[in-house]
Amino acid sequence: MTAKTIKNISNPDTYKGMYSFHKYWGKKPTESITFFIQNYTNESDIVLDPFLGSGFISRECLYRRRRFIGIDINPFAIEHSNFLLELPKASVFQSALQEIETKIKYKINKTYLTNNGEIASHYLWSSGELLKVWMKPKVGRSRIEMETTSFDLEKIESFSQYSTRNIRKLTFFTNSRINSSNQMSIYDLFTRRALHNIDLILDEIKLFPDTIQKALLLTLTSSSGQMSSMVFAITNRGKTKNQISNKIEVGSWVIGYWRPELHFEINVWNCFESRAKKLYKALVDISEHKYLRHESISALLKSRQGALIINDDCIDVMQKIPEKSIKMICTDPPHSDRIPYLELSEIWNSILNKDVNFEKEIIISNAKERNKKKSKYIEKMKSFIGESSRILTDDGTFLIYFNARDQESWKFLEILENNSDLQFIGAFPMEYSANSVVQDNRKGGMKTDYVLVLKRKGCSISYKRELLDKIPGWSTLVPQIATAT
Ligand SMILES: C[S@@+](CC[C@H](N)C(=O)[O-])C[C@H]1O[C@@H](n2cnc3c(N)ncnc32)[C@H](O)[C@@H]1O
Repeated sequence: MTAKTIKNISNPDTYKGMYSFHKYWGKKPTESITFFIQNYTNESDIVLDPFLGSGFISRECLYRRRRFIGIDINPFAIEHSNFLLELPKASVFQSALQEIETKIKYKINKTYLTNNGEIASHYLWSSGELLKVWMKPKVGRSRIEMETTSFDLEKIESFSQYSTRNIRKLTFFTNSRINSSNQMSIYDLFTRRALHNIDLILDEIKLFPDTIQKALLLTLTSSSGQMSSMVFAITNRGKTKNQISNKIEVGSWVIGYWRPELHFEINVWNCFESRAKKLYKALVDISEHKYLRHESISALLKSRQGALIINDDCIDVMQKIPEKSIKMICTDPPHSDRIPYLELSEIWNSILNKDVNFEKEIIISNAKERNKKKSKYIEKMKSFIGESSRILTDDGTFLIYFNARDQESWKFLEILENNSDLQFIGAFPMEYSANSVVQDNRKGGMKTDYVLVLKRKGCSISYKRELLDKIPGWSTLVPQIATAT
């Protein structure tokens, strides 16, 4: 192992290629995961992630010829993980994109036509009032800014009665932490013109075979944030230090459903195309496109390779896994009240037309009507540890990525002392990858995750302590937990 490989275990590189194509709340870098797969499992061993998320661990396992089981309650997570296990060839994806472009780009652009015959790229809105219309010049980079005309307003008005055809109804809860309310609908987050254009793209995507359809759908979910009315405008940003400029720049959408007063409406085709190009570039570098997948636990157990990806409650599924059959459990469970995954994924799941089981999510939510309290969360986390202890092999390794700013949320670990066959052997801190979504920027929020390493009590197998000692920050003490301030 090189010094860089060791350093990256706790201080990972920035996401690149496929890793940066789609956001997921709390996406974890894979450097520490691959370190443990390489050094603590053998070919054909089974690795389990009961809180799969974006699913990058599945590719890391299959690439190294380990079997893999991934479970998540979030349909988006399953769609993304399945996509990673059967990626289209770059050239096939590009032809599909060109086909869609030929059929609908002109139709979408027609909805952004201006009175001088140009196509608008951005509209700057302030609380329901259209302030400016931007266009890209034919040559050069700097934009052309136009005042709003009655032509622009009439165009917008022509969509005022539009109802989306392809996106299912969204479920929102009243949760001030993510700026949502149960009265909210998709029409509060997107202009009707944007929804009309998203429908045009969805009509075309449906015509493609499964693998390419998945890739195109994820391109759409990945670009949906920039298509929404949640893209803030950056003001007062000077080119050089201390220099204030009134020039407005395009920001981004941020975690949650914040609808900034001053915001952009961006040309839907441009958003889709720029994400598609990013995916195309990532696909060009992919060597293994398709991995074996199984449909049931018994099929995976009989085989020597492949993956099983399940959209369900992990505790229900783990109860069906035979005891002492899993060599490594490597997982990043929901961290108490930090990220309400299902609430945040509602736009993606509605575009994918997936139903969501909010009831079974293990989470603490500020949305009162969900009744997701801390006590329930701790109880569920204890069940998860209990099941893990039952299914881990005698020489198995159990990694839990965790982070919570209050002591109480760590309470599920009590089960280790009293009521399980597992033992804590050490932990190390792990920084987020530079461009991952910030999980918790509240005062007192912890800046790093901790990776807790557990094994079976009394297991006499050598634990390669010399390897663990090399990990930056490795300690055999339970991490010092930051308390809320
Ligand atoms: C911290 S995230 C995992 C992120 C993942 N490590 C990644 O790199 O993308 C936790 C995941 O747990 C899932 N989850 C919550 N309740 C669950 C349940 N009852 N069963 C399975 N998964 C659940 C959430 O949907 C979320 O994807």
